[in-house]
Amino acid sequence: MNRTPDEDLQGPHTADSNAGATRAVNIVGERIALGPFRRDLIPVYQRWINDFATMRTYDTPRPVTAEQATAWYEEQTTKEQITRFTVYELATWRPIGKTALYDIDFHHRSAEFGIIIGEPDYRGKGYGSEATLLTLDYAFTALNLHNVFLTVAEFNQAGRRAYAKAGFREFGRRRQCWMMGGHLWDEIYMDCLATEFSSPVLGRVFVPDQANPSTPKVPRDEEE
Ligand SMILES: CC(C)(COP(=O)(O)OP(=O)(O)OC[C@H]1O[C@@H](n2cnc3c(N)ncnc32)[C@H](O)[C@@H]1OP(=O)(O)O)[C@@H](O)C(=O)NCCC(=O)NCCS
Repeated sequence: MNRTPDEDLQGPHTADSNAGATRAVNIVGERIALGPFRRDLIPVYQRWINDFATMRTYDTPRPVTAEQATAWYEEQTTKEQITRFTVYELATWRPIGKTALYDIDFHHRSAEFGIIIGEPDYRGKGYGSEATLLTLDYAFTALNLHNVFLTVAEFNQAGRRAYAKAGFREFGRRRQCWMMGGHLWDEIYMDCLATEFSSPVLGRVFVPDQANPSTPKVPRDEEE
């Protein structure tokens, strides 16, 4: 089978590959995993954000050059207020999208969420819902944030449903501010609180060590 340059960049996408053993991965869910952004995937991220059919529901679509994509990557991976993940399909370890927490504010314990499932064939399979859930898990369980919010166009049915499944609730609208198909649509605001969220994965990771029963117990107030 002929492989495209992008596929060569991404490595093998077969269920029996050992890609999962060699890839840097942060959070493993049921059907997807989240890992760090990767410099070698800049051409893939660039392809995703140049797809107007994808960006139609995300932002104002604009052509993004390789130089702009590289500058964007550098900025996005060095700012403390932004955390970005690459989304992998677990069955193949193919990179299929990206998620982000922007404007992370550790004082007010808040952030904004964003997502793209960049590979069109991988939309509508539940991956966006799970990637949203796992990114919220990171926000609440690993970063101890309290409020994560997002904005979504009223006509973005898949996004609204994916976010609701992951735990987001609508809290307001900016009316008639998004032009699509000859109509002005609302922009919907949704948020999720840590107190409304049940951790699917990281609640089993971010736990104190269990004391070894064979060693004497150290009272907490005597610990250094
Ligand atoms: C929005 C997006 C992240 C959702 O991810 P996804 O993997 O496609 O969504 P899921 O497969 O998890 O589906 C979520 C729900 O939406 C429904 N859905 C999916 N596509 C739909 C569509 N075109 N119309 C209506 N409902 C749809 C699914 O049926 C599912 O609901 P259900 O579980 O009750 O059946 C993804 O479609 C995407 O990246 N779109 C382009 C970029 C974008 O819009 N980003 C977000 C901007 S706010």
